[in-house]
Amino acid sequence: MADPGRVAVLLSGRGSNMLALAEHKRRELDRGYEIVLVASNVPAARGLVLAKRLALRTWSKSHEGMSRDAFDTLLDSVLRDHDVELIALAGYMRLLSDNFVTKWEGRILNIHPSLLPLHKGLDTHRRALVAGDEYAGCSVHLVTSELDSGPVIAQAEVRIRPRDDPESLAARVLEEEHRLYPIALEEYCRALRQAEGGRDGG
Ligand code: GRF
Repeated sequence: MADPGRVAVLLSGRGSNMLALAEHKRRELDRGYEIVLVASNVPAARGLVLAKRLALRTWSKSHEGMSRDAFDTLLDSVLRDHDVELIALAGYMRLLSDNFVTKWEGRILNIHPSLLPLHKGLDTHRRALVAGDEYAGCSVHLVTSELDSGPVIAQAEVRIRPRDDPESLAARVLEEEHRLYPIALEEYCRALRQAEGGRDGG
């Protein structure tokens, strides 16, 4: 099989995590992964502009007017055309079809801005504050068909301060996301490579 480090980043918006993943790769001597494609369901996404500036390959198509299955089938074929082995969701604001998730089982990671299993879904920072949590944070997890419920592979905590509002908390959590995601992705690639190597070696 191809190298598990051939990563596609899927995004729908700002793209700061994509940037963190791309820049981390540049600093590493031992390149744990390579972003071979940045794909989006939002052609106007800011993240695509950033990716182009980094000379990364991009693909986008609006999902509007397409069924979830039709869009994901197209996305799947684009990913395979680029020999993608691993998908990193980074603010990809669209649920993936069960079919797609099954095809890519164990090969889709996501970053979520909460300490899963707490605060799945949207509006996590406000909910952490309302709940009176002592810590917020972020989680990198494997994607399964149930939203934000796949196995967590890495987490980082952020202490909540008495004067925090959702915006101030989100900003500190985002800094941790940028630190955590590249390391988690690199480690996951390493583990996949080892598993493949083990299999090759009998
Ligand atoms: C991040 O907070 C991430 O945890 C969540 O969506 C946001 C994406 O931000 N899944 P960005 O597009 O990476 O800046």
